Amino acid sequence: MLAQTPEITEIILAAAEKARQETRDAPDHPRLSRLRWPQECTIGPGLEGAIACETKIGYVNGAKGWLVYRGYDIFELCAYSTFEEVSYLLLHGDLPSVDELAEYKRKLTRYQHLNQTLRLLVSFPVEEMNAMGALRMGTIFMRQEFTTMDREGGRPAVDDAIGADEDSIAMETKPFGEEHAIYEFKARRRSRRKSAAMDASGMEACYHLIAGVATITAAIARVRRGLLPIEPDPELSFAANLYYMIHGRRPTPFQERILDICLILHADHGMNASTFAALVVASTLSDFYLSIGSGIAALSGPLHGGANEQVINTLREIGSSAGVSNWMHMAMVKKKKISGFGHRVYKAYDPRARVLGPLAAYGIERSTPEIINLFDTARELEKQVLRSFGTEKKIFPNVDFYSGIVYSRLGISPALFTPLFAVSRVAGWTARVLEYLHHNRIFRPRAMYVGEFDRHYVPVDQR
Ligand code: SDX
Repeated sequence: MLAQTPEITEIILAAAEKARQETRDAPDHPRLSRLRWPQECTIGPGLEGAIACETKIGYVNGAKGWLVYRGYDIFELCAYSTFEEVSYLLLHGDLPSVDELAEYKRKLTRYQHLNQTLRLLVSFPVEEMNAMGALRMGTIFMRQEFTTMDREGGRPAVDDAIGADEDSIAMETKPFGEEHAIYEFKARRRSRRKSAAMDASGMEACYHLIAGVATITAAIARVRRGLLPIEPDPELSFAANLYYMIHGRRPTPFQERILDICLILHADHGMNASTFAALVVASTLSDFYLSIGSGIAALSGPLHGGANEQVINTLREIGSSAGVSNWMHMAMVKKKKISGFGHRVYKAYDPRARVLGPLAAYGIERSTPEIINLFDTARELEKQVLRSFGTEKKIFPNVDFYSGIVYSRLGISPALFTPLFAVSRVAGWTARVLEYLHHNRIFRPRAMYVGEFDRHYVPVDQR
């Protein structure tokens, strides 16, 4: 994939150089080895400034606009790596060897087959449900399938295939014309042997969730369009399979590479709300499926996930680049928070936006007039927001400002933008849960009581 798309690599390296030039004077980051507890810190509302734990997984430097995964700069990972390698890196701490990568890919491919889960999922009115709600429900079905199904037979044998009948879901015939692709299989024999893979909280569960959240998201995308889910193709990369399971056709090398980079960019981002939610649930020794489900729930809130969907709505509301000035005037009068801008940590340009902006621009002239207009409007909005807020309030584009345009160019509908975010972030969620459980301590912050005391009971007929 990398070899076929050298222009994309050049775009990323140019963005990296620009970032280095623009942030060379920002203060460097501390190099810690171990954290000595207890730690003193100044805490604001929403635990702003609180230190929840120490980690080796990811680092965000808000002043410099830097993002690091396990010591690797995000620009370098986007330029040279893949989501398979990066998700492995987050989980294991090192980039995989050739054999480790092959084994990991084999497992992801096997775990992407979720026939029992999809059968349960599509028996619900998914097309009418909130996509993130459906995704969260899917992870519960996964848990059921994983913890009861004999994992040795993870990929059902073809000779178990049965004809589609009224109580099963015939999968879409493989669009490249193969013989019938009926993917209903007889109920598997319950395995009495409790293998390591049966554990709902461990590395296999992490692999299963990273693979399965992609399959479920793709299935939701298809069912919402009145189509049947498509079985993953074991020949394809993770990103290419995600695209294929959504669209029913293989991506071009550029589409595959751009989607893969989006997955790398969204994989981990410090102690954000959804990662924290997943950790809180995991710290009670609940299992990985329920804890990742909490991450999905947190991400579904528009202040965290969904901002890229809001950005597309904003750009459509503005109408064109000529409409930006009037819209900006209204936004400033109303002190409106403009989606896709600002960040709790970044007071510099979000490095992810530094990559996504040029990717949105790449070949834009080959897009539809509607998407070209969205992009032109976005460019003008960025210019005017930076002029109005950039230096004074340190408000810059964040990861969500251009990602919606990139996804739209990949034919992905706005309702699926946040589930796509979860497809990637599940790597960071599972890696951080795995890491935290090694030194687990149930989260139990305080709430400062500012209420009354010494009140006494009065019977209801005397109140
Ligand atoms: C993500 O945590 C993570 O890492 C999250 C994330 C991840 O990868 O997990 O990076 C993903 O959530 C990206 C952010 C997506 N959300 C949005 O784009 C929604 C719009 N952004 C804002 O809601 C806001 O910027 C936040 C919530 C993201 C951050 O807000 P802060 O840091 O709490 O800032 P604030 O609300 O204290 O505002 C400080 C000032 C205020 O002005 P004053 O009252 O001081 O005059 O900055 C202004 C705000 O009005 N401001 C904005 C603004 N964001 C902050 N003004 C206009 N537009 C904005 N977007």
